[in-house]
Amino acid sequence: MGLLDGKVAIITGAGGGLGRAHALLLAKEGASVVVNDLGGDRAGGGKGSAMADQVVDEIKAAGGQAVANYDSVTTVEGGQNILKTALDAFGKVDILINNAGILRDKTHAKMDEADWDLVIAVHLKGTFCVTRPVFTHMRERGEGGVIVNTSSTSGLLGNFGQTNYGAAKAGVMGFTRCLALEGKKYGIRAWGLAPMAVTRMTEDLPGMGGEDMKATMDPAKVSPTVLYMVSSLSKDKTGVCLYAGPGKVRELRMVWSEGVAKADAGLITAEDIAAAEDKIFLPEPKGTIFS
Ligand SMILES: NC(=O)c1ccc[n+]([C@@H]2O[C@H](COP(=O)([O-])OP(=O)(O)OC[C@H]3O[C@@H](n4cnc5c(N)ncnc54)[C@H](O)[C@@H]3O)[C@@H](O)[C@H]2O)c1
Repeated sequence: MGLLDGKVAIITGAGGGLGRAHALLLAKEGASVVVNDLGGDRAGGGKGSAMADQVVDEIKAAGGQAVANYDSVTTVEGGQNILKTALDAFGKVDILINNAGILRDKTHAKMDEADWDLVIAVHLKGTFCVTRPVFTHMRERGEGGVIVNTSSTSGLLGNFGQTNYGAAKAGVMGFTRCLALEGKKYGIRAWGLAPMAVTRMTEDLPGMGGEDMKATMDPAKVSPTVLYMVSSLSKDKTGVCLYAGPGKVRELRMVWSEGVAKADAGLITAEDIAAAEDKIFLPEPKGTIFS
């Protein structure tokens, strides 16, 4: 008995890296999987069918069920077609994992419009384009569902050289919090995921290179967190972002401090703020690039 017997899952960007690892684990746990991947390069150029096909073959070779889809998540038509692939092959969708992603890292001063637009298009608009038809399907079907949106510590905590990516990933988490509220009455849960793994996206980043790091930061170590999120193990939890990295899982959220308040919505002056800094400012979380 698998944790996901009889379930149908769509995983975007599942032709490699984290998406592939999620697809293999969910299929092993009994889910029928739509392996979506545009098959392009890390910066969002090109396309091809080989990446998605290879993961479908791997799943089938292990005795699982999977079908490929090669649409880009960046268009409304692409999102609709990803849902259609699932409905044609398996008749329904229970689980969506928005995972597709690209990187175009540059300091802000050097970032041009194309670097901004494409990163926002894949991560943020892509999350909208696929979620909308799937959410609508789940709502109409009336049997709930789970949607996992891949965010990042870069969005929630910040990272050098990633104003485009960080903006998109913080947007993904804002989207998730709002979607969780809207999904509640339909039993549709929404999670954020902030993963950490060596993949083609991260293998040449500082500190991530080498065979040792590949083993330590294997994407397969993140996927059990996704399994927890999309299975009945997480019961009715929704609207939460979990960080999942090698040997560590923790909640990651935007928070507000105790702050300073004045009765009757009284005016808080600049001097009041300066005098109450210890109540207003939170310490930077340990282990971030600011601490
Ligand atoms: N690896 C990490 O440490 C890390 C950290 C934080 C967040 N993430 C996020 O995790 C997700 C997976 O990243 P990864 O590290 O596995 O990288 P990856 O490059 O191995 O995987 C991303 C996949 O998305 C596919 N893709 C890109 N654009 C697409 C599009 N328009 N339509 C469909 N598919 C598309 C790519 O072909 C690729 O297979 C991304 O959203 C990434 O931003 C990764």
